Amino acid sequence: MNILVIGGAGYIGSHVTREFLDNGHNCTVFDNLSSGLRGNLFPEASFFHGDIHDYPHLLKTMKSGGFDALIHLAASKAAGESMLKPEKYSHNNIAGTLNILNAASEAGIKNIVFSSSAAVYGNPQYLPIDEKHPTLPENYYGFTKLEIERFLGWYEKLKGINYACLRYFNAAGYDIKGRIKGLEQNPANLIPIIMETACGIRKEMQVFGNDYDTPDGTCIRGYVHASDLAAGHSLALDYISKEQKSLTVNLGSEKGFSVTEVIETARKVTGKPIPAKIAGRRAGDPAKLYDSSTLAFETLGWKARYSDMETLIKTSWDVYKNER
Ligand code: WQD
Repeated sequence: MNILVIGGAGYIGSHVTREFLDNGHNCTVFDNLSSGLRGNLFPEASFFHGDIHDYPHLLKTMKSGGFDALIHLAASKAAGESMLKPEKYSHNNIAGTLNILNAASEAGIKNIVFSSSAAVYGNPQYLPIDEKHPTLPENYYGFTKLEIERFLGWYEKLKGINYACLRYFNAAGYDIKGRIKGLEQNPANLIPIIMETACGIRKEMQVFGNDYDTPDGTCIRGYVHASDLAAGHSLALDYISKEQKSLTVNLGSEKGFSVTEVIETARKVTGKPIPAKIAGRRAGDPAKLYDSSTLAFETLGWKARYSDMETLIKTSWDVYKNER
């Protein structure tokens, strides 16, 4: 298939592009490089340096390529920041996506895979979280992702698109074959921050609270490897294009790890001290958040293969250890 990967120069976007190329698809990356990196581009994929807010350019690109599908990974994704700058998330995530949906409708692109998030669920009412769990987002980032899922439902009804909403749990790790090495800039997530501390970019890190109702007092999350997420995108596109049906699924490892367990694994794998200071709780952090991805297995045959903590840390360290 001929696939347009919007946000394909980003951390997840580059893994998704790599997966589609490995599976024999033609890929075109459309990215404004605001957080994506040129170093994440592959010679086999065409590249358009463009912005989803530039509707004429976006539409011209979509009309130019004879695309069978688009993958939408372009968004702002820091939950904490979304509570301080909702206007940035309205502009990038909501207005930007509406441009994509409208241009795709005009260009006749019928298959859309959307990078959604576990943040649509909010505080867990039961665990593991499955797709039937209520969607009551606790932060504006999660709200934007849920609203986009709703837009997709309407565009399916009114414009006949087939969509897949992929609700990622905590993405981590790097390409198993070492082909992707771009470091995320100013990460807010736990594992890249641990890596920055291990390689000396940061002197020490903070643990946001150790008084939660968990075995060691630190928060528990479900971490999923970027290569596993990428495989999920490819299987989802196969499904919606062949079955001409839409779906919404969790993509996670179905296993929770505490902050302390992640740090201890990183100390073991890297051999580095990784100084960590206990700090106060971070607003909006639920104590536990991990998934059931049974539906993805039953519908797509998808299962996380590389999301054990040692592999998440080792593949990350293979990229970070050369820094400093
Ligand atoms: C994990 C745990 C922190 C940094 C976020 C987004 C979510 C999704 C995944 C995209 C928490 C603790 C972290 C640090 C720490 N993004 N932590 N010290 O918040 O579970 O989810 O990323 O879809 O939408 O909200 O991930 O990695 O920020 O935090 O103690 O320096 O690590 O408190 O308990 P989170 P995270």
